[in-house]
Amino acid sequence: MNTPWTHTTVLLNEAVEALLSGNAAAAGTYVDATFGRGGHARAILARLAPEGRLIAFDKDAEAVAEAARISDARFSIRHQGFRSLGELPGASVAGVLMDLGVSSPQIDNPVRGFSFRFDGPLDMRMDTTRGESVAEWLATAELQQIAEVIRDYGEERFAVQIAKAIVARRQERGPISTTTELAELVAGTVKTREQGQNPATRTFQAFRIFINAELEELQQALEASLSVLQPGGRLAVISFHSLEDRIVKQFIAKHSKEVYDRRAPFAAPKVMKLNALERIKPSQAEVSGNPRSRSAILRVAERTEAN
Ligand SMILES: C[S@@+](CC[C@H](N)C(=O)[O-])C[C@H]1O[C@@H](n2cnc3c(N)ncnc32)[C@H](O)[C@@H]1O
Repeated sequence: MNTPWTHTTVLLNEAVEALLSGNAAAAGTYVDATFGRGGHARAILARLAPEGRLIAFDKDAEAVAEAARISDARFSIRHQGFRSLGELPGASVAGVLMDLGVSSPQIDNPVRGFSFRFDGPLDMRMDTTRGESVAEWLATAELQQIAEVIRDYGEERFAVQIAKAIVARRQERGPISTTTELAELVAGTVKTREQGQNPATRTFQAFRIFINAELEELQQALEASLSVLQPGGRLAVISFHSLEDRIVKQFIAKHSKEVYDRRAPFAAPKVMKLNALERIKPSQAEVSGNPRSRSAILRVAERTEAN
C-alpha cells in the first residue's frame, strides 16, 4: 500500500556506519529490526556485497507492504515483532539495527489513532492484525491498572486523576472511542501544563507503550541479539525517550563488564558479551531539519569474541 505520509530517517548515516563498522562492501547477514519506510534498509543494501543479506522485521502491515517495493534478492522482510529475531540461527548475524518507536506514517495517519493532533479511532496498535486497541482495553481496564500504565510509561504526575476521569466518563457516558475524546478528557484533568507540550502527550505515550508491549519486547530482542550476533557483530539501537534509552543503556552496561561471583572469589569471572562503543546524538543540522530527531540517542555495542 502506498500512503501519502513519508518518514524522515533519523541518524541515517551514523546508524548505518556503526552497524557496518566501516565495511565498504559488507558480506554478512544484517538485521533491520524496524523497517518502517526502509530508510535505513535501503542505505544498508547500498553498502552490502552481492553475498550479503538483510533480514527486516516490522509489526506493521503497511510497513511490510512498503517493503514489497524493494526488489533485491538479498532482502527479505518478516511481519513479526522483533523479539522473533531470536529465531535466527545462533551467531549468524553481523549486525542488528533497531530504530525504536513509531514512524511518521503511523503518527500522521488519523486512522491509526496514535496522535492527539488528529481525530481518529483510539487504536495505537502497530500491528492492527492482532491484539486489543487502546479503546478496547480502556473499555474494561481496572482504574488501578490504567493509573499504573500512565504513571510508569508516561511518567505523568497526574496519573491517578486521569485514570479516575477515564473511569468516571466510562460509567457516565460509555467508553472513550476516539483520540479527541481522550485528549480533551486529559486536558480537562491535568491542571498544570509543561511549556510547549500538549497535556495529553504523556498519556498518549503511556498507552502506546503499553498496548504494543514496547519495553518488554525491546528487552527480549536485546537478549535475543546476544545469541544471534557473531563475534565482532554490531548492535545499534536508536531510542527516542528515556524509558527506552535506560533499558538499552543498562543492557549494554550489564554485558560490558566481567561479573565476579562474590561467593566464589577465586572462580573465573563471567566473561563480558559486549563492548560498549559509542553514544551518538543527531547533529544540530539534523535536529533543525527534522525536529522529531531531537530526542534520539544511538547506542552502539560490539559482540565480544567470548561466548
Ligand atoms: C522509527 S520507525 C523505523 C523507521 C526506519 N528506520 C526508516 O528509516 O524508515 C519504527 C518502525 O518499527 C516498527 N516497530 C516498532 N516496534 C516494533 C517491534 N517490537 N517489532 C517490530 N517492529 C516494530 C514500527 O511499526 C515502525 O514501522
